[in-house]
Amino acid sequence: MTDSRHEQLQATRKSWNAATRIHNLHKSDQAQFFRDGGDVLFPEECELLGSIDSLDVVHLQCNSGQDTLSLARRGARVTGVDLSDEAIGFAQKLATDTGLAASFIEAEVVEWMHQTPERFDVVFASYGATPWIAELDKWFAGVQRILRPQGRFVCVEFHPLVWSFGPDLRPTGDDYFKRGPFVEPVGDYVGESGTSLQSVAEVDATNELPAYSWQYTLGEIVTLAVAAGLQIQVLHEYPFSNGCRLNPQLVAAPGRRWVWPPGIAQLPLMYGLAATRR
Ligand SMILES: C[S@@+](CC[C@H](N)C(=O)[O-])C[C@H]1O[C@@H](n2cnc3c(N)ncnc32)[C@H](O)[C@@H]1O
Repeated sequence: MTDSRHEQLQATRKSWNAATRIHNLHKSDQAQFFRDGGDVLFPEECELLGSIDSLDVVHLQCNSGQDTLSLARRGARVTGVDLSDEAIGFAQKLATDTGLAASFIEAEVVEWMHQTPERFDVVFASYGATPWIAELDKWFAGVQRILRPQGRFVCVEFHPLVWSFGPDLRPTGDDYFKRGPFVEPVGDYVGESGTSLQSVAEVDATNELPAYSWQYTLGEIVTLAVAAGLQIQVLHEYPFSNGCRLNPQLVAAPGRRWVWPPGIAQLPLMYGLAATRR
């Protein structure tokens, strides 16, 4: 890894540490939520995952582990991997406090996927995983490497098109074909998304630490997945965003979703991809 890449990763880790602290302050007793049977997964990832009972599942870029523990609740033997020590520390404590079994590893995900001797039945990534990866070809090659033969890759992500819209919903945001890096702090999307991301309290703190992210078009993502050896079975696009209010003009809909306001064409806000290791 080059020095500049290492410095970018350290900056991104610090920004995610600060943001994760703020995000979790917004939420009430998360351990109690899980002890009461709570589950934060959305129907879209559940449909693509199918039954994961008794399967070895790895959750890439798991952040504080709420989705990871929801996978564990569905019977998976699950491992979460993330760069942020704040997030992994939180996830480990949450697992202990809830009694749900899950392993958490603090690591740079691409490096980890290319070194680990472990293999999995399912590799899962969702909601803001791919934009943090500088070399997405290596990320997909890592996914292919850690899957068992016939193992499945499932990814539910925000559609890259959404970042092209400005706050007034005109296409004044980022150029769809701009690669980056984009250098900006990880924002408080939990506070901005209200109860759809379990935000129940105001938090008087901001994150000003820069993080490095990248943009890939949907065509690039699919092409890189295929080039890594994955056989794509499903590519869905959805006109709603699960949990996250990606633009201030989006309006709340049932099921913790955000949708386009009336009078705006229903463009995709998320995509879901399921593939098999050949
Ligand atoms: C938007 S969050 C993902 C949320 C996740 N889907 C969940 O279940 O909560 C993005 C995560 O990617 C992690 N991340 C960013 N770059 C990374 C890298 N190179 N290796 C590992 N994790 C990384 C961040 O620390 C952060 O927790």
